Parts: sequence; C-alpha cells; structure tokens
Amino acid sequence: MATFTRSDWQQGYKSQTREYSYWIEGIEGIIPFEGTLFRNGPGLLDRNGQRYGHPFDGDGMVCRFSFVGGRGHFCNKFVRTPEFLAEEKEGKILYRGVFGTQKPGGWWNNLFDRKLKNIANTNIIYQGDKLLALWEGGQPYRLDPVNLDTIGIENFDRALAPGQVFTAHPRRDPDNGDLWGFGVEPGLKSIIRLFTVNQEGVYQERYQTKVPGFCFLHDFAYTTNYQVFAQNPISFDPLPFLLGFKTAGMCLELKPNTPSVILVFDRSGKLETYNTDPCFIFHHSNVYEEGKELVLDSICYGTYPKLEPNVDFLDVNFDRVVPGQLWRFRIDRSTGTVKREILLDRSCEFPSINPHYIGKNYRYIYLGCTSEAQGNAPLQAIMKLDLVTGVQQIHSFAPRGFVSEPIFIPGGAREDDGWVTTLVFNAEYNRSELVILDAHDVSAKPVAVLPLSHHIPYGLHGSFTTKVWV
Ligand code: CO
Repeated sequence: MATFTRSDWQQGYKSQTREYSYWIEGIEGIIPFEGTLFRNGPGLLDRNGQRYGHPFDGDGMVCRFSFVGGRGHFCNKFVRTPEFLAEEKEGKILYRGVFGTQKPGGWWNNLFDRKLKNIANTNIIYQGDKLLALWEGGQPYRLDPVNLDTIGIENFDRALAPGQVFTAHPRRDPDNGDLWGFGVEPGLKSIIRLFTVNQEGVYQERYQTKVPGFCFLHDFAYTTNYQVFAQNPISFDPLPFLLGFKTAGMCLELKPNTPSVILVFDRSGKLETYNTDPCFIFHHSNVYEEGKELVLDSICYGTYPKLEPNVDFLDVNFDRVVPGQLWRFRIDRSTGTVKREILLDRSCEFPSINPHYIGKNYRYIYLGCTSEAQGNAPLQAIMKLDLVTGVQQIHSFAPRGFVSEPIFIPGGAREDDGWVTTLVFNAEYNRSELVILDAHDVSAKPVAVLPLSHHIPYGLHGSFTTKVWV
C-alpha cells in the first residue's frame, strides 16, 4: 500500500531560489545541545524552468543550522562556483552534468564536451578551521562559516595538484581527529590516492596505489589500520559520453557474472583484494577489526540503479527501483574469503553512526528507510537498528513527510547517548522541518522540531560541529 502521493514527493524536488538568514520561530520542544549542523544538497533543480536531468546534477546549496542558548538560526546560500555564476548570468544550462544533464541542443552540442561542472553539492565538512563544500569529481570549495559566502577552490597551499580530486565522503579518525579522504583517477587501471587533512587544516598525501579495472567509488570505510573500498563490477563505456549521446552516469553498466571486489589497503598503501557476489554499493556504515576478520557493513543494491536518457526522474516507478539493503561482509584475511549476510531487508539508505565509533566495534546504526517493511518507496522514516539484538526502532513521518540523511550528535559516554537529527520535507505545509530525536528511543516524540518558513529540496550529506556561528 502506498504511504505517500507522488505529487507530495515531487514537491520536495522544487528548486529553492531564495537565500535566507533568520531565527527560527515556532520551535516545539527544547533544543538539547549547542553547535552547528551543516547540510549540502542540490538547491536548484532547474535553471529558469530548464530542468537538470538528475537531482545529483543540481547546484550545491549549503544550509546552516546554528543552535545557541536554546534558539535556532537558519541560513542557506548557494556555492558560487564560476560555473554557477556563468549559468546565473546567462539564465540557462551551459555545462553537462555527470548523472543526467545534457546541454540543450542535442548530441552535436555535447560532442566531445568533457567539461563538467563542479557542483559542490554532495557534502560539507568543517576541518582545520576550513568549511569545505565537497563534490567527488573536483576540488573542494571553501566557504566562510560566518555568512556562507564562497571563498573559492581550496587546494591546501597547492598540496592538491590541478586535476587531483578530493572526496565527497571523508572519515574522521576518532582518536586523533585526522580527516581521511580519497581521490580516484578512473581508467582501465585506476589510481586511488589516500590523504589526510589534519586538525590544523594541513593536507598530506598518504599513498597512491594502482587498482586493476575501472573504479566508481563514492565512499570508503576506515579503521586506524585499514582503508576499505567496494569496487562495484561496473564498466564504463566512454564512447557515448564523448560523442555526446549520453551523460557519463548513463555510460555505466553492471558487468554480468562479475564479482564485486573489496579493496583493503593498509596504511602503507599495500592492497589486498577479496571477491564477493556482485552488488552495487554507494555507502558504507562502518568497518572494524575482529581477530583476523574485517567486519564491513554497507548498503547494497542488487544491480546498478541505471539511468536512462529521456526518462524523467520525477516519474520514476518505485516498484521497479532496486532497493538498497543493509549487508554485513566478514572479510577473513587469513583465508581470503568473504562471508556475507543481510542485516536489514527494508529499503534503506544514508547509514549514520556515532562518529566516535568510526573503525571500532559498534552496536547502533541510524538510517533513512521506507515507512513500510516491504516494497520500495521514498525514504519517509528514520530507523535505529541494534546490531546486537536486531531490535528496530522506527520513527515514520508518512504519509506527508520525507526524510533526509540522519546525523548523529554525540551527547554522553554510551554509544547511543546523543541525538539524531534529520531534515524532513513536510508536504502538508510545503516546508522543511529540522527534527531532533533522542537516540535512546528514536520512535518517541521528537525532542524538538524546528519548522522553517519554506522548503529545502531533498539534500545529500552534512555534518555537525560544536562550534557556533550566527
Ligand atoms: Co554519499
């Protein structure tokens, strides 16, 4: 049974063209912490009515929620990349998007145009006094945390060479605060570079290693001793992209009868590979060491969620969309084998954990999931999953609420001492609300709800810091 209407869901994909800065009124409940929550995601889904082909191609718009003295302040601003400014000036799409956007004018106008737009829309992180908007196909954009103005490309005093890409999914070492990230140069053999940005904001390359085959890597998992990637069995046929028929994202294919490969690097960059059954992974929850095993938890899709030209993502048939499900991989380094088991078969995405448990044996995962246990639909609920007992706590915002990534904010000594925040699009009022849940019991009434006076289009990733700017 459908728990939502398509028109409600589609409303959350309308562009937000306005930039705001105001104290949030009508807060229900008590805000239990101080600090700043940053979120990033596509703010524009169209340029003067000319729509981007895929929401991942939308221009990055950063949202800042500041919590201080029991009050909440909201501010949002676009990342003003040169490409954004050029398109704003011309009032039309000038660049191709990776996922679904062709420039208008047919294939001849896209012919051999490999210039993609760095849309800086995927994540945002504060590290070493630098607020960075992230996109995996380019270098980060540094923003001023005081007013979210765009300062420019951050190349860390030229430590990041031209053409070397940064990551959209860094992981912070909970023991020393180093931010770890990776860059990929895909090819027949791909190069993976691992790097750190320390708490002073200094970039350092740790290693680079050649990996056989094409790599489409969105995320990785981290322990102090190992960095773990899932190499999806994807092939890239660049010809239709170069010729302009298709976007790069449409040229990816899941190779039939080809295993997925789990790549395990040690801190010197030495690579071990482990084959497992084919699947497609965007996001990992966590990895930790247990004896000779590495235990890796990831959201897996049975096939690559392929993008077809001329299919409108707003018309997607959810019944035909392959669901993401939570799997556990036990990688036995002594035998070279991988055992896998499903932990959650409900459609889910955006796994989040207490950041103090990155790379460590952990118990709780917070996820966005469907409101119903069966079938596929937009994410309308937040789940806390206890990996020891299997107990699920669910907070559903159906039928008219649609959730985004949950972000855990630590608030005590135990793993689930803290809060889970998520930005919910409420179709009833056509606005978004920041919801704060008690991590001990996410199914309980929210600790606080902060209603915005407008909507924010469905976003991607974000992060929390205890520093405050207003
Ligand atoms: Co992601």
